Amino acid sequence: QRFPVVVVGAGPAGLTVGCVLRAAGVDCLVLESETREFVERRPRAGVIEEPVVRGLERRGLAGPLLERARRDTACEFRFDGGRHPFGYHELTGHHHWVYPQQFLVTDLVREYADVRGGAVRFGVRDVRVHDVDGDRPSVSYVCPESGRREAVACDFVAGCDGARGVTRAAVAGRARVSRHDYGIGWLALLAEAPPSADRVLFGCHPDGFAGQMPRSPEVTRYYLQCPPGDAPENWPHDRVWAELHRRLGAAGAEPLTEGPLIEKRVLDMHDYVTEPMSFGRLHLAGDAAHLVAPIAAKGLNLAVHDAFALGDALVERLLRCDGAGLAGYSASRLRQVWDYQEFSQWLSELYHGGASGDPFRAGTALARLRRLFSSPATAAAFAERYLGTAARY
Ligand code: APR
Repeated sequence: QRFPVVVVGAGPAGLTVGCVLRAAGVDCLVLESETREFVERRPRAGVIEEPVVRGLERRGLAGPLLERARRDTACEFRFDGGRHPFGYHELTGHHHWVYPQQFLVTDLVREYADVRGGAVRFGVRDVRVHDVDGDRPSVSYVCPESGRREAVACDFVAGCDGARGVTRAAVAGRARVSRHDYGIGWLALLAEAPPSADRVLFGCHPDGFAGQMPRSPEVTRYYLQCPPGDAPENWPHDRVWAELHRRLGAAGAEPLTEGPLIEKRVLDMHDYVTEPMSFGRLHLAGDAAHLVAPIAAKGLNLAVHDAFALGDALVERLLRCDGAGLAGYSASRLRQVWDYQEFSQWLSELYHGGASGDPFRAGTALARLRRLFSSPATAAAFAERYLGTAARY
C-alpha cells in the first residue's frame, strides 16, 4: 500500500489536513485509534475564532457550522462584586463562534471520507512511524479486523494524534520541549442545565476563578479553579453549585440555573511547545506539537491554523514540487503558537492572580482587570488577541 501522505489522528487537525489534501486531489490515508462513533461524540473545546471560521469557509468546510454555530458578541467579567460586560463585537466587528468540537469533527469526517472520498482507518492499534529522516518513510499499524501489522509507504507523515499520540513520542529526545506549569487545576464540569447567562462569564474571585461557557440550550460548561491533582470526588453536587454561586455572584446578576453534572474532570493547567514541528518527512500539527491550557480557548484554533498551513504546504510540494511552504512550516507556525502561549499567560494572571494568596499579585491582577474597562487601548488589544484577529503567520 502506498499513499503520498499518511495522517495519524482524526481530530480537528488531522481531518482538516485530510480535507485540504483531498480538495487538491492528493491521496492520503488517515489512521485513527478510536472508532468513528467515538470521535464524533467526544466533547472537547467549543470556541472557534472568526479567522478559523473564514479559513474553513474558504475551503468549503464550514457549511453546517455557519448554519448552526452561535455567534457571540460579548463576554462578561465578574469581579469586585460587580458585573463588567465586555462587548467585543461592538468594539471590533468580529464574533466568537460557539460550536462544540464534536460537531466540527463530525462535519470534517463526513466531508473527508463521504464527500471527498478520502481513505480512513478507524480503530487501528499500535501505530508506528518509520524512516522519517529518509526519502521513503512509512507508517505501520495493527489492523483491528485481522490483528496483523500492515505497512503503508508514503512521502510525508502528518503527526496529528494529539498530546498522547505516537508521533510526538517518536521525536522525543530530538525535539526541544518547553513546558509551563500553572500550578493550578480547573474542575471542568458539564451541567445538564440551560446557560445562566447568554454569554461567557469569567468570575475573578479571591477564592478562585470560575467560568461559565454556554454550549447549547440544554448543556452548559462550567469551570472552577481547584488545587492541581484534586479529585473530582471532592466536589459533590452541592459544593460545586455553592462555589459557582459565590464566585460568579454579582450585584444585579440572575442566579445560576442548576442542573445535574454530567461530566466532572480535573485539568492540571499546563502548556508545552515542541520545537521544531518538523523532523525530516514528519510534520506535527495541533496538540501533537503544542498544548495550550484551556484558559484562552486557543487549542482547537491553533490546531486548525496548523492544519491549513500544513495542508497547503503539502499540496504545493506534492503537486508543484515547491517545498518552500514545508521548509518554512515549523518556523512560521511557532510564531503564532508562542504568541498564543503568551496571551494565555497574561490571561491566567488576570483570572487567578486574585486568588494567589499573594496580596501583591492580587493587587496587580485587579489593576489589570480594571484597566480593561478604563483604557480603550487595553480593551482593543485584549479583544484582538481574545478573538484571534491579530493572527499573522
Ligand atoms: N494512533 C492513531 N490515532 C491516535 C493515536 C495513535 N497512536 N493517539 C491518539 N490518536 C487520535 C485521537 O483519538 C484523536 O482522535 O488522534 C486524534 C487527536 O485529536 P485531538 O486530541 O483532538 O488533537 P488535535 O486534532 O490536535 O486537536 C486540537 O486541542 O485543545 C485541544 O480541544 C482541542 O482537541 C482539540 C485539540
